[in-house]
Amino acid sequence: MMKQTTVAVLLACAAMGAHAQDRAWLDKSKSADERARAAVAAMTLDEKLLLIVSYTDKKDLAKQPDDIVPPAVKADVAAHHIEGSAGYVPGIPRLGIPPQWQTDASIGVRVGGMERTALPSSLATAASFDPAVSEAGGRMIADEARASGFNTFLAGGANLAREPRNGRNFEYVGEDPLLAGRMAAGLINGIQARHMVSTMKHFAVNDHESQRTTVDVTISPEAMRQSDLLAFEIVNDLSKPGSVMCSYNLVNGRWACENEYLLNKTLKQDWKFKGYVMADWGAVHSTADAANHGLDQFTGYPCCNHHGPFYSAKNFKEAMNKGDVSMRRLDDMAQRILWPLFQTGVFDDPAKVGKIDFAAHAAVAQRAAEESLVLLKNEGNLLPLANVKSVAVIGGHADKGVLAGGGSSGVTPVGGNAVPNLEPTKWPGPVIYMPSSPLAAIKSELQGRQPQAKVAYASGTDIDAAVALAKQSEVAVVFVTQWMGEGFDGRLELDGNQDALVAAVARANPKTVVVVESGGAILMPWLPQVPAVLEAFYPGIRGGQAIARILTGKVNPSGHLPISFPASNAQLAHAEIPGFGKPDGIPVHITYDEGAAIGYKWYDAKGYKPLFAFGHGLSYTSFAVAEPKAIVANGALTVGAALRNTGKLAGKGVVQVYVAPADVKASGWEAPKRLVAFQKFDLQAGGANTFAQAVDPRLLATYEVADNSWRVRAGTYRVLFGQAADDLPVSVDVTLPDMTWSAVHKE
Ligand code: BGC
Repeated sequence: MMKQTTVAVLLACAAMGAHAQDRAWLDKSKSADERARAAVAAMTLDEKLLLIVSYTDKKDLAKQPDDIVPPAVKADVAAHHIEGSAGYVPGIPRLGIPPQWQTDASIGVRVGGMERTALPSSLATAASFDPAVSEAGGRMIADEARASGFNTFLAGGANLAREPRNGRNFEYVGEDPLLAGRMAAGLINGIQARHMVSTMKHFAVNDHESQRTTVDVTISPEAMRQSDLLAFEIVNDLSKPGSVMCSYNLVNGRWACENEYLLNKTLKQDWKFKGYVMADWGAVHSTADAANHGLDQFTGYPCCNHHGPFYSAKNFKEAMNKGDVSMRRLDDMAQRILWPLFQTGVFDDPAKVGKIDFAAHAAVAQRAAEESLVLLKNEGNLLPLANVKSVAVIGGHADKGVLAGGGSSGVTPVGGNAVPNLEPTKWPGPVIYMPSSPLAAIKSELQGRQPQAKVAYASGTDIDAAVALAKQSEVAVVFVTQWMGEGFDGRLELDGNQDALVAAVARANPKTVVVVESGGAILMPWLPQVPAVLEAFYPGIRGGQAIARILTGKVNPSGHLPISFPASNAQLAHAEIPGFGKPDGIPVHITYDEGAAIGYKWYDAKGYKPLFAFGHGLSYTSFAVAEPKAIVANGALTVGAALRNTGKLAGKGVVQVYVAPADVKASGWEAPKRLVAFQKFDLQAGGANTFAQAVDPRLLATYEVADNSWRVRAGTYRVLFGQAADDLPVSVDVTLPDMTWSAVHKE
C-alpha cells in the first residue's frame, strides 16, 4: 500500500513537471472528452496498448512468456497490483495517467482476506424499492475502496432474475427492468460520486451460471430489448457507468465479448455509451474480432482459464500489422478507457490509502438491511414479538451470524467469518457468515423489557432437540439458509433437513416464525403451518441486528419482493437448466422462449399464482393507496397517487404502479402488465404523501427490430395502483395514441 501512495505522488510530480500548456488533459476546465482525446494524442503505440490489458495474480503472470508479457509490465504488476484484488492496469507516468486498480464487487470491497464492510446482497437492497438506499451503499463501499487504494469498482450487477435458480441472483437487482435499472443505477451513482469508475455487468443475457462460459443463448432482439437490455439501458441512462463488463456466454451464436449486436450496435451506437467495455475475467476469445466488435479492455490476464494469448500487446500489434485492427480502433479503445477517469474524477482526485470508519460504514449497511427485509406473512400479528416470555431460536447458525453469497462478491467481513471451515472452503467459497448473530441481537433487543424474555438456542441439526426447545418456549424462530454463489445454480428446495425441521417445529409450537436467508426465491412446503415468515436474503454485516430489530418491532419492515416466489418448480419457464450440476465446459444451448415475460410477467401470462408475488411485503402498520392519477399529454403518461398510513404505527410504504393494456395481444406486449413507477414513503401513523412520476415511454412500448424503434400502439390502457403485483385495488383508464420513436439515443 505504501508503494502505491508513492506511485501516486510520482505520477502527480511527473504530470506537474511537464509543460501544462501542452498537456490539455491536465486542464480541468476542459470536458472529459477533450481531456481523453488530448491524452490519447500524446501517447505512443506502446502506451495505448498498456491501457487495454488488465492483469491479475502476479505469480501466474510471472510465469507467462516475456514476449507475451514484457518484463517491465511484470515488474510493474508485481510492484503495484494489490494482492488478492481483481485486476491492475499499468499507468503511464510520463503523462500522469494513473494505473487502474480494479476491485470486486457490488456489496463491498473484496481484496484477499482483508476485512471490509459488506452491504446486504444487491437483491436484498433491491427489496428496499428505494434507489437512495443503493446510492448510500454505493458511496460507502466506494469510500472503502478508495481508502484501500482502488479507483475502479466491478460493481453494478444488473442481469434480470430470469432464472430463479441462477446462483448469482443475489448479486443482481430483481426481475423487473425498471426496478433493476433504478436500483443498479443508484449503486453506480453512489460509487461514481466518490470519484471511482463503476461497471455495469454482466452484459448480457447471462442469466444463469451452469456452463456459463459455454452456453449459447438464443433470444430475439425484441425480447432482449424489452427485458434484459432494457434494464441495462435504464442503468446506463440514469448513471452513465464508466465501464460495462461483457459476460462469459454466447448470445445468438456470438460470444458476448465480441458480439457486434450487443456491444457496437446496442451499447455504443444506440445508447451512445462513451465508456469502455471490459471483458469478464477470461471471457475473451479473440484479439481482432473482439476489438472490432466492441471490446475495449482485455481484463484479468492470466486468470480464469483464459482462452489463449489474446491478452497481449504483441498479439494486438501483429493484428494491427496485418491490417486486422486499425489505429483508429485502438485510439477509440484508449479514449473510452480514459474518458471515465476524467469524467468521474479519478484523475483529479486519486484514491489514497487511509483509515476506514468501520463503525459508520456498518451503520450504513444496517440501515440498508432494515429497509430491505421483507415480511412475507404475519398471521394473527404474531410479529412483532411483544411481551414475550420465552423465545426458542433455532438453526441457521443464528448463534453466530448471517449468511452471505459466494464467489467474486464474497467480502471478508470486519470481524472475520463467523462460521469458518464450512464446505466449500475453496472457490466459489469460502462460505461466509457475517459476524452478526441474530441470537445475540434478539437477546439484546429484548433485554430490559417486561416480562424479561428467556431466549435459548438449538442448532437444528437434531430435530428432536429443536422440537423440545420449541415446546418449552412461547415463540419459536427458525432460521433457514440457502447458500448460492458464482459459477453454479441452485435449487429452490432448501438443503438438508431444513424443511423437515421447520415442519416439526411448527407442529410443536403454533407460534413459529421462519427467517429465511437465501440468494433468492425458495419453495416453502411448510408455509400453511407457519404463521410468520421474514425474508432476509443475505442481509450483510449487521444483518443479525436488522433481523432482531424487525422481529422485536424496533424497526417496522418495509421491504417488498424484487422477485416472484414460485409456488412450485412446475411454474418455472424452464424445467431444467442445461448442464446443471455437470462439470464446466460442456457446450450447451438454451432458447429463451419466454422472451421478455420474466418473473411476474411470466406468471401473469400463464395465469399462474405464485407463492408470493413480485412487490409483496407486509408492514406492522397498514397503508391505503388513494387519489390515483394518470394523465396523458402529447402522448406522454404521468402517473401519481397518494399513500396514507392507516394504521397506528409509523412506517414506510411503497406505491407500485403497473399498466395493463385492455387488449394485450393488440398492444404487442409480452404479458398482461408491466411496472411503470414506484415510490417509497416514510409516514407517521395517519400521515399521507403524494407523488407524480413521468412514465418512461419504453415501458409502454414494444421494440421494433425492422426500423430499430420503439412503438406504443394506440388503445386503452388501465393504470393500476397498489402495493404488490397481486394487490392493485385502484385503477384509472387512459387512452394512448400511436407513437413511434427511434431507439437511437440523442448525444
Ligand atoms: C466474475 C465477475 C468479476 C470478475 C473479477 C468473474 O469471475 O464473473 O463478476 O468481476 O470475475 O473478479
